[in-house]
Amino acid sequence: MEFRSKSTHPAKYRGACLVLGLFEKKHLGESAQRVDKASNGFLSEVLKTGDILGEEGQTLMLYQVPGIESERVLLVGLGKRKEYTAAKLCKAVTTMVKQLNQAQAGDAYCAFLDELPEATSVYQATRHIVTAAAAAAYRFDTLKSDPKAPKKPLKRLLLSSDKSIQGESLEQAIRHGMAIAAGVRLTRDLANLPGNLCTPSYLAEQAQVLASQFPALQVESLDEAAMESLGMGALLSVARGSRQPPQLIVMKYLGGGEGQKPVVLVGKGITFDAGGISIKPHDKMDEMKFDMSGGASVIGTLRACLELALPINLIGVVPACENLPDGNANKPGDIVKSLAGLTIEVLNTDAEGRLILCDALTYCERFEPELVIDIATLTGACVTALGHHASGLLGNDPGLIQALLAAGERSGDRAWQLPLWEDYQSQLDSNFADIANIGTDAGAITAACFLSRFTKTLTWAHLDIAGTAWLGGKEKGATGRPVPLLVEFLLSRCQPKD
Ligand code: BES
Ligand code: MN
Ligand code: ZN
Repeated sequence: MEFRSKSTHPAKYRGACLVLGLFEKKHLGESAQRVDKASNGFLSEVLKTGDILGEEGQTLMLYQVPGIESERVLLVGLGKRKEYTAAKLCKAVTTMVKQLNQAQAGDAYCAFLDELPEATSVYQATRHIVTAAAAAAYRFDTLKSDPKAPKKPLKRLLLSSDKSIQGESLEQAIRHGMAIAAGVRLTRDLANLPGNLCTPSYLAEQAQVLASQFPALQVESLDEAAMESLGMGALLSVARGSRQPPQLIVMKYLGGGEGQKPVVLVGKGITFDAGGISIKPHDKMDEMKFDMSGGASVIGTLRACLELALPINLIGVVPACENLPDGNANKPGDIVKSLAGLTIEVLNTDAEGRLILCDALTYCERFEPELVIDIATLTGACVTALGHHASGLLGNDPGLIQALLAAGERSGDRAWQLPLWEDYQSQLDSNFADIANIGTDAGAITAACFLSRFTKTLTWAHLDIAGTAWLGGKEKGATGRPVPLLVEFLLSRCQPKD
């Protein structure tokens, strides 16, 4: 989808559809008032019918509105003015895109910037419109023989706002929004692909494809032999049960100064998680193809940063393998030796994410990073705690935690901090090895406790995206989270906000 900014009088827009927001009690925004005037009170007359009140989700398509050049006018309800938030703006954008696709409009002028949600700048609102519209238009149907795509999908969206808003801020917001949207799309595409197609080697190839699109990216993948000689016994123990060779994908984008320490993102890349010998129940096991969403989000975040040519040094590390039962697979009780030298008793082979992450995190030390963030669909317990709304956030540096929480708020891709208190650590005591790979309760926290044993020398945060990276049920599919959070975090490190 293409986005442009221009200040045009809404009545003068010569396109397929003019989209106007309407608050409850039929409160017309500025553009709507201008259209009402140009149409000699036509909108006010329509509103008298009561067919639309301005409630959230309500829409009304009008044709042949007098005095205006656009073929159609779409009214979209925004709810109560006082309760208007950035999240509601995004919902209204989703509704708008659905209606425009149904109407086969092709292009539209969106006047939602007339009134901004509480504590939201023009820059932020514009970015929300761009990312929400792109997300609403997203489809994953490459594997269907006869995809039911809209006949004439929305292709061009004109974002206009008048006087008070400088064009530059709009342009910049559109650029940022589009880069985030492209990163989210890539992440969703990778995560939606099934395990038989999206294998560890496929992920490594896709990282190479990204490097061919953006020459500033360098990619290398360590194979099993390379990991073996490094001593990544924990990672390799998970890969043993699979016929797909594991990959440690390392992506470097050095867009910052030479002396600038890199930010390292580590993403869990389990391309299918059957649980291993501690096999999962069959119900919804298909959803475990999303278990590489963390890795996909690292690739998507890199894509966004490359497109924006951000002045940062960013390294992505994706340990990728499958977790399957097999005669050669890890068994409960097995003891493996990690790259850090710590021995691990594998009490449950389904707690595999932490086994591949611990070696990848130790591997990061060689980059002498400024900070490391790992992103992983790590625990069902995190879904129980936070549902699908917030990613779990834990770490060893309060400043980093605060920055990530704030980036989550600003981008609408929120995280919520869970405690990483010493009290939980003893759950990982093992009678036979240095540590066990599971605790007894507080699963999201004890998983992070496990990782914390391998990040003592790092400034580190962990995002558990088990609940946020995808949705189940009717909306089953990848969300592309937490790409918006991560890009916002990286953007905010580059430049003072508007
Ligand atoms: N990939 C799963 C976590 C998961 C579960 C993500 C449900 C999304 C939805 C992870 O590898 C796993 O199996 N974790 C176990 C850990 C347990 C054995 C301590 C879990 O959460 O059940
Ligand atoms: Mn598992
Ligand atoms: Zn897993």
